[in-house]
Amino acid sequence: MSWKSWTTQIFLVCHLFLKTCFTAEFEISVPREPPVAILGQHVILDCSFPVGKAWDLDRTVITWQRGLEVIHSFYYGQDQLDRQSPHYDKRTSLYHSEIERGNASLRLERTNLGDSGDYTCFVSTMLGTQKKTFQLKVAAFYPEPRQNFTVSPSSLELLLTSQGGYPQPSVQWLDDRGDDVTSDIVTNISVDTLGLYSVFSTLTIQKPPNTTFTFVLKNKDLGQEIRREINLHFDKTGSDAVLPVVLQDRCRWLVFLPTCFTAEFEISVPREPPVAILGQHVILDCSFPVGKAWDLDRTVITWQRGLEVIHSFYYGRDQLDRQSPHYDKRTSLYHSEIERGNASLRLERTNLGDSGDYTCFVSTMLGTQKKTFQLKVAAFYPEPRQNFTVSPSSLELLLTSQGGYPQPSVQWLDDRGDDVTSDIVTNISVDTLGLYSVFSTLTIQKPPNTTFTFVLKNKDLGQEIRREINLHFDKTGKNEP
Ligand SMILES: *[C@@H]1O[C@H](CO)[C@@H](O)[C@H](O)[C@H]1NC(C)=O
Ligand SMILES: *[C@@H]1O[C@H](CO)[C@@H](O)[C@H](O)[C@H]1NC(C)=O
Ligand SMILES: *[C@@H]1O[C@H](CO)[C@@H](O)[C@H](O)[C@H]1NC(C)=O
Ligand SMILES: *[C@@H]1O[C@H](CO)[C@@H](O)[C@H](O)[C@H]1NC(C)=O
Ligand SMILES: *[C@@H]1O[C@H](CO)[C@@H](O)[C@H](O)[C@H]1NC(C)=O
Ligand SMILES: *[C@@H]1O[C@H](CO)[C@@H](O)[C@H](O)[C@H]1NC(C)=O
Ligand SMILES: *[C@@H]1O[C@H](CO)[C@@H](O)[C@H](O)[C@H]1NC(C)=O
Ligand SMILES: *[C@@H]1O[C@H](CO)[C@@H](O)[C@H](O)[C@H]1NC(C)=O
Repeated sequence: MSWKSWTTQIFLVCHLFLKTCFTAEFEISVPREPPVAILGQHVILDCSFPVGKAWDLDRTVITWQRGLEVIHSFYYGQDQLDRQSPHYDKRTSLYHSEIERGNASLRLERTNLGDSGDYTCFVSTMLGTQKKTFQLKVAAFYPEPRQNFTVSPSSLELLLTSQGGYPQPSVQWLDDRGDDVTSDIVTNISVDTLGLYSVFSTLTIQKPPNTTFTFVLKNKDLGQEIRREINLHFDKTGSDAVLPVVLQDRCRWLVFLPTCFTAEFEISVPREPPVAILGQHVILDCSFPVGKAWDLDRTVITWQRGLEVIHSFYYGRDQLDRQSPHYDKRTSLYHSEIERGNASLRLERTNLGDSGDYTCFVSTMLGTQKKTFQLKVAAFYPEPRQNFTVSPSSLELLLTSQGGYPQPSVQWLDDRGDDVTSDIVTNISVDTLGLYSVFSTLTIQKPPNTTFTFVLKNKDLGQEIRREINLHFDKTGKNEP
């Protein structure tokens, strides 16, 4: 058969099947950040998988492992614990009634320090097979510190003790100017036979100025912070009636220990950059601690980008004199929520110029702090359009998706799943608004039956457009449409 007659046949008889699917592949989900179990309590290790209509419990395999050590297995519709490691004996369970909803989470009872480490969730169903590994941390809170005073004729010694936490804490002492004086303090951290840490921190004062020391113990895995402020007032005039002992120079130590177990004034902003959808509103979260002594009229909230003011609030109301014109009539605070520590900013009708670093500044009677975080603005790519061009010698398929943000990644896969992107011409252009358009052209000269998959990803939005193109060529066909 001549080339020309063959291509004529393509034109007339080739059958093109275009599956317009818009779904992701079989992908299980596990925690992105290591979950933290509290020592001795149970923890749920999350793992979920996609289920479809064709799903069948009897053909589902769920296995939890640590390396080669089996923690829990499930297949033939029931738990299979023959190969379970003794370390996990009678401590594991799955949520059987939830498996049909794609829940492969493992419940682990009575956690111990040996449970920390990497866990692998393996799931296999009729729809696919995948495993993913993540880390579990086990941690124990440090208890309220105990205080032992030792007063000698020449000095006052204060020992703070907190026993049985995990992991190793950071310990700091600050003086009344907020400077770190940790190096002047003797701190011993020891490990007991169970692997738990104990802190012994001794403050020794030889000279008697009125002064304040602050003990700060942090357990980073649990976000625990123990802060103990110790105010030492030195009263030269007192009699030796009250507390604790008279020093040699006939002066008396008065020790006030507010037994506070609270964090310092610490505002919270998003840890991961929030993503606004272009043209829609977004809430930039910022919250601050409020106490009983809190007063709205003495609260200042300011949102800025560098020196540019976005929104200010003080004397109990919005103050927009210095607001940047870029944000005119687009910002608001949740006034009724401010008393609950909500300083979040609502920004209307977002545009690409809104992306960047935002600073939330809050000052109240309890403290002052500012924190900066990044806002991303993104736009979904629309469903791609397809233009076919059939010439005597080739078939050309152009896929077009216009008006997304940020720049996407574009990939073409062949029927073996190999990347054939380099054989394809893809143009990505930016329009006057800053939005991206994708033009991707697949040209086929030879006629095997084959499958190409177009994959466009917008990472900020987690958007994935997947278009599978099956090309079937029917050589036996006649010259009929
Ligand atoms: C599985 O179900 C349990 C119990 O309802 C729940 O606590 C857990 O979060 C679920 N896990 C997932 C991944 O949905
Ligand atoms: C602290 O004092 C208590 C009694 O008040 C005592 O039982 C304990 O052993 C002391 N702790 C240390 C570390 O010296
Ligand atoms: C702390 O360590 C020092 C030196 O290692 C030791 O002399 C002291 O007794 C220890 N103190 C406590 C409270 O364990
Ligand atoms: C220390 O505090 C006491 C009582 O609070 C006060 O009477 C005294 O004047 C203070 N001394 C100094 C040196 O500030
Ligand atoms: C503040 O209040 C708004 C409206 O109720 C809410 O959407 C937002 O999440 C709150 N922000 C914080 C940090 O609580
Ligand atoms: C695709 O075809 C349509 C008409 O079917 C046309 O309007 C459009 O301009 C074509 N797109 C490109 C990029 O050639
Ligand atoms: C893509 O870019 C090439 C070279 O820059 C150009 O020749 C072609 O016309 C472009 N195609 C589209 C669809 O914009
Ligand atoms: C291509 O597909 C058609 C119909 O699906 C089939 O009849 C033909 O045998 C296939 N050709 C090859 C080379 O696989």
